[in-house]
Amino acid sequence: MQLGGLTLGRGICIITGASKGFGWALAHEVYHLLEPGSVLLLVARSGTLLQELKEELQSFTDKQRLVVHCIAANLSTTEGVNETVRVAGQEAVNEIDNVLLINNVGSLGPISGFQSFTDLERVNSYLSLNISSPLTLTAGILQTFPRRPGLRWSVVNVSSIYALQALPSWALYCTAKAARKMMFSVLAEEEPNVKVLSYSPGPLDTDMQEEIRRLTGISHCLFPCKESAAKLMKLLLDNDFSSGAHLDFFEV
Ligand SMILES: NC(=O)c1ccc[n+]([C@@H]2O[C@H](COP(=O)([O-])OP(=O)(O)OC[C@H]3O[C@@H](n4cnc5c(N)ncnc54)[C@H](OP(=O)(O)O)[C@@H]3O)[C@@H](O)[C@H]2O)c1
Repeated sequence: MQLGGLTLGRGICIITGASKGFGWALAHEVYHLLEPGSVLLLVARSGTLLQELKEELQSFTDKQRLVVHCIAANLSTTEGVNETVRVAGQEAVNEIDNVLLINNVGSLGPISGFQSFTDLERVNSYLSLNISSPLTLTAGILQTFPRRPGLRWSVVNVSSIYALQALPSWALYCTAKAARKMMFSVLAEEEPNVKVLSYSPGPLDTDMQEEIRRLTGISHCLFPCKESAAKLMKLLLDNDFSSGAHLDFFEV
């Protein structure tokens, strides 16, 4: 599938959290938009789910010339981040005209009152996966693929409305999403040759929403991941947003 005839060219795309949910839907969208010779790196902890996704993607016979690598890595660890950068680095020798990094991994964490967050290690562990990990991964991938004329470089931060809105009992989630928004705004200021987008995907029918229902009893009106992933692809292909922008599913 191509959106309006546009494609992502011959590129390398790295999607974190690709084993399920929004990342899984993004992998499908991206796969069909990449041209032969491209490379797709799928990252998550579950190697089995990634392998299933890879086989499903490669069953689309017209696309067999795409290389898909599964990286079973825990991105809350140094080893997991380093392994992802290392595998990406192996592809840096190939002729490509597009680098796309989608920082999709995010976790809900505990939903509980402010006073409950007394355990520094527990808080640090949450912030490590949700803030430090996308920072260090993006830095590593930036080092691996230096900017050069003719190379389109894009970074997506999968964000949330809660990067902008405070919600009682959601201190960790809101804090991490707000910090990520600022972090990627800084990148946009610093790197004029990298197009940066924070995208809030809307309420999606995923395991995360199931966890929200279980923890809070609240059910939202949910949208299919595919619909939101297609909107994100259209934004990237049209490429007429300002670098560093924070855009929401409901506004685009
Ligand atoms: N769902 C929504 O309604 C919603 C709304 C707004 C924003 N978002 C954001 O959208 C993104 C995706 O959410 P989702 O609903 O698709 O979540 P999800 O269903 O919980 O999926 C999360 C993905 O991240 C991976 N992951 C989790 N911890 C990891 C770790 N330590 N190392 C590597 N991979 C890890 C999971 O795979 P493994 O378990 O195999 O590692 C999975 O592929 C998140 O950033 C979320 O905050 C979601």
